[in-house]
Amino acid sequence: MTASLLQLERHGAVALVTLASHNTLNPLTSELMKELGRVLQTLDADTDTRAIVLTGSVRAFAAGADIQAMAKMTYAQAVQDNYLAAEWQALSTARKPLVAAVRGYALGGGCELAMLCDIVVAGENALFGQPEIKLGLVPGAGGTQRLPRAVGKSLAMEMNLTGEPITAAQARDCGLVSRVVADEEVTRVALGLAQLIARHSLPVLLTVKAATARAFESTLAEGLVYERSAFHASFALDDQREGCDAFLERRAPFFTHQ
Ligand code: CAA
Repeated sequence: MTASLLQLERHGAVALVTLASHNTLNPLTSELMKELGRVLQTLDADTDTRAIVLTGSVRAFAAGADIQAMAKMTYAQAVQDNYLAAEWQALSTARKPLVAAVRGYALGGGCELAMLCDIVVAGENALFGQPEIKLGLVPGAGGTQRLPRAVGKSLAMEMNLTGEPITAAQARDCGLVSRVVADEEVTRVALGLAQLIARHSLPVLLTVKAATARAFESTLAEGLVYERSAFHASFALDDQREGCDAFLERRAPFFTHQ
C-alpha cells in the first residue's frame, strides 16, 4: 500500500511510514495529516503489524502545520472545522507502538507529532522546537500540554515562550527523546527498536502502551488501579503461559498473539 504523500514499507511485523511531501520540510498539510491518519488506522487494524516507525526526510521530520493555510484562516473557520483536532485524532488514538525517527527539523506540529509517538530516536543534527509564538500562534497539537509533561515546566516554558529550538543532545538530556544517533543511522536504529518490540505478544503490547500512556492522564492511584487490572487480565492470555513456560524451559517464546 503506498499513499501519495507517504511511503509505506514492510519490515516483517514492523511498518515504516515515511512522510514524503513534495516539500522536503514536510509541512503538515490537511491532506498529509488525513493520509497519515488513514494509514495509521489501517495499520492499527492489521494483525500482522505490531510496531510502526514514523520518519520524515533528511532535512525535516516535519516543519510544522501548514503556514500557507493558516495565513488565510479565520477564527470562524478554525472553530467550525475544528482545525487540527479532527485531522490529528487518528494519531492520538493509535494503539500500536509508534517510534519516531527524527532527522532535521521537528518544529511546531512536527515536534508535536514526534511527541505523539511513544519513543523518539533523533539524529545528532535534529532540532526540536515550538516556534508558533513567532507566528502569533499558540501551539495547537500538544506543545503546551505534552511538552511540559515530557521536559518539565521550565524548559517547556522557555521553548514555548521564546520559540527557539533545542538540539538533539538537549532533547535527550531532558527526556524528550530516548536516543541520539548519527543522522544516517536514525532509521536503522528506530527499525531495530521496533523489531525488538514486535517480537512480543500483540495484546500485551497494546495493553502496555495503553497503561504507560495512562501515567500521563491520571492520578498515580488511578493509574495503579488500571495497571493492576491490566496485569491480572494478562493471565487470561495464552501468550502469558507461553512466555513463562518458555523462560522456565530456557527457550525463545512462540507467541500466537492470543
Ligand atoms: N508550512 C508551510 N510551508 C513551509 C513551512 C510550514 N510549516 N515551513 C517551511 N515552509 C516552506 C517555506 O515557505 C518555503 O516555501 P517556498 O520555497 O515556496 O518559499 C519552503 O518551505 C522552504 O522553507 P525555507 O526557505 O524557510 O527553508 P530554510 O531551510 O531557510 O528554513 C525552516 C527551514 C527553519 C524549517 C523554516 O522553513 C521555518 O522556520 N519554517 C516554519 C517552522 C514553523 O514555524 N513551524 C510551526 C508552524 S505552526 C504549527 O505547527 C502549529 C501547531 O501547533 C500544529
